Amino acid sequence: MNNAKTLKLLDNIQFIYELALARLELKSFEPDLKVTNDFREFKIKDISNLEDLKTRLAYFKTIDGIYTDYYYLQKYNQTKSVNQFLTHWIYPYKGKFHPQMIRALLNIINIKRGETLLDPFVGSGTAVLEAQLLGINGIGIDISLLCVLISKVKTESIEVLDQIKEYKDFYLDKNNKKEAEDERVKNFYKVAEMMAHSDQSRRGKSFDSSFRNDALKMIASVEDYNEAQKRFNLKLGKIKVIQGDARNTELKDESVDGIITSPPYSIALNYVANDSHSLTALGYDLNQIKEDFIGVRGTGLDKFKLYDADMEKAYSEMHRLLKKDKYCVVIIGNVTFQGREIDTTQNVINYCESVGFKTVKKMAKIIYGLYNVMQKEYILIFKKSK
Ligand SMILES: C[S@@+](CC[C@H](N)C(=O)[O-])C[C@H]1O[C@@H](n2cnc3c(N)ncnc32)[C@H](O)[C@@H]1O
Repeated sequence: MNNAKTLKLLDNIQFIYELALARLELKSFEPDLKVTNDFREFKIKDISNLEDLKTRLAYFKTIDGIYTDYYYLQKYNQTKSVNQFLTHWIYPYKGKFHPQMIRALLNIINIKRGETLLDPFVGSGTAVLEAQLLGINGIGIDISLLCVLISKVKTESIEVLDQIKEYKDFYLDKNNKKEAEDERVKNFYKVAEMMAHSDQSRRGKSFDSSFRNDALKMIASVEDYNEAQKRFNLKLGKIKVIQGDARNTELKDESVDGIITSPPYSIALNYVANDSHSLTALGYDLNQIKEDFIGVRGTGLDKFKLYDADMEKAYSEMHRLLKKDKYCVVIIGNVTFQGREIDTTQNVINYCESVGFKTVKKMAKIIYGLYNVMQKEYILIFKKSK
């Protein structure tokens, strides 16, 4: 290759699936590539859109010695965990996506600045925040008000940073009852409160000192986000987070340009029990909301039947909302019930193909840190073919 460009992977790449995603994301910009240097580097020919690569790539550290934006963005990190940079770390939500994987998938499905990504099971908001960073608009839906609050705070706080700081002393002083008027500022301190509830119930920490520490660290992360936006001249995507049901949304037919989501993994994780402290603090009746949460209804084998029926509705809804020839990415794993592995993944493929999706890719990835429940999950990429 004449005038070839050399791209080096980021140092934290350790799994085969990450290497596979790195190759696929680079391929979406330049199909003619070579893997070199024992899988640590790639070579492509000299292409005109190098600036695009620098601003969008997820798994790469340098392009011909020039650092990518993501290399720097990941350094705005108030935690010890590499992938919990900017506002990603906010709230210890179980089953969060790896942000870097989402950025790569956004490249792989070729969704552009100004287009719209949907995550109908948005959870703690990882996918919409990654979309926002790339200038892609995002719609996030979740049945849980807690998730809606977390996702909003991660993506909207940057718009009201000054007011969040202005109200800091009021919120940190227990005796002061002054409330902010702006919903986004209220939500910010509400989520700090939810984090303190979580610290208290899971780790036995004092509510007051947790609230203070969490709020201050959250402010530092929003300041980071603000600084990063200015430094890299990021034109952020518009994000809308809605409390709603993925089985039946109010969005229009063929209104989104891509979907990336991970639905509840059958009965693997009980999201109601898991966040019961925060959901109760938000005024929920846990027994009542259980009825709307997918994967929580019923007992024994009935639970699986209800789960399958609910998810069929959700996949049909995703098919309805996606534009033709666009992609839907589902990250899902098999669960084990009474010692038997249930092939949830194959059920998803079968159903999605029956409603008009074509399976483009099935890629296995390991789950880091959840070994006792599931060891492996799959990235399924579907294309809406009819
Ligand atoms: C695997 S989690 C998503 C995690 C997310 N990818 C993240 O990065 O945090 C699945 C989510 O589905 C939500 N959920 C359950 N039933 C739902 C329903 N009927 N409609 C919409 N969301 C639902 C749960 O509240 C949970 O947040």
